[in-house]
Amino acid sequence: MSPLPDRLPAGPPTDAVANAAQATEAADSGEPNPVDAAIESRQSMRQFLPRAVPRATILHLLDLAGRAPSGTNTQPWRAYVLQGASRNALVGKVCAAHDALRADPSLAAEYREEYDYYPEKWVSPYIDRRRENGWSLYGLLGIAKGEKDKMHAQHQRNYRFFDAPVGLMFTLDRVMGRGSLVDYGMFLQTIMLAARGHGLHTCPQAAWNGFSKIILPHIGAGPDEMLVCGMALGYIDETAPVNGFRTPRVSAAEFTTWLE
Ligand SMILES: Cc1cc2nc3c(=O)[nH]c(=O)nc-3n(C[C@H](O)[C@H](O)[C@H](O)COP(=O)(O)O)c2cc1C
Repeated sequence: MSPLPDRLPAGPPTDAVANAAQATEAADSGEPNPVDAAIESRQSMRQFLPRAVPRATILHLLDLAGRAPSGTNTQPWRAYVLQGASRNALVGKVCAAHDALRADPSLAAEYREEYDYYPEKWVSPYIDRRRENGWSLYGLLGIAKGEKDKMHAQHQRNYRFFDAPVGLMFTLDRVMGRGSLVDYGMFLQTIMLAARGHGLHTCPQAAWNGFSKIILPHIGAGPDEMLVCGMALGYIDETAPVNGFRTPRVSAAEFTTWLE
């Protein structure tokens, strides 16, 4: 493959290579890099405004995400966009099931996740990070240990898409292998980064996964489809404290081994 040109050709950039070269130049010159900015400004948001998102914008984000790479270009993603009455009806059904499950925990067998998103047995350091994440979020919301009603209500905000007017559901053909979930992650992240370029924010949501029995028939997915996760999409309420939740990361130096 030929390297990116050092200098842009004269005239407006006409293709992706020219755009990439421009971005590289911006980074080298110390100017703000729009790709870095999209990555840095993405975070899971949990309070959205009722402001509608134009259908053309949603379609554009999905088209961009469809540019994500996938093994042998299999493009295993399938998206469902819920708005208006359809979104509200799903919210009603799943919130009712979530309440019923709390009242009768024996119903848990009915609401199983279709794939292991999390490990069966948690070990350090993952359990530590998970706990820190949960308690930091609850701390910000003023929810103390043992306040089960408040925790239930906060967890249920997932099933209201955190008030976002657009709810997305993603499915995968059951015949596909585990590798397709790797592809799926790239697709989902591309939606979330592309959203930033349009003033929009997101929250990816595995919380829906246990309720696939309700969701799949609601969205009209066939028996060959498995629910991968949901996602809230919209304009955020910048005044909501919960949206100030900036999560920490270990540095690359900690998770990288250099072999020379
Ligand atoms: C596939 C996936 C599923 C997630 N599911 C949920 C969820 O159901 N509810 C929620 O509030 N956050 C969910 N999150 C958000 C994570 O908690 C969040 O990404 C993590 O804490 C890092 O924070 P950040 O996204 O703000 O950088 C999910 C993230 C991913 C990638």
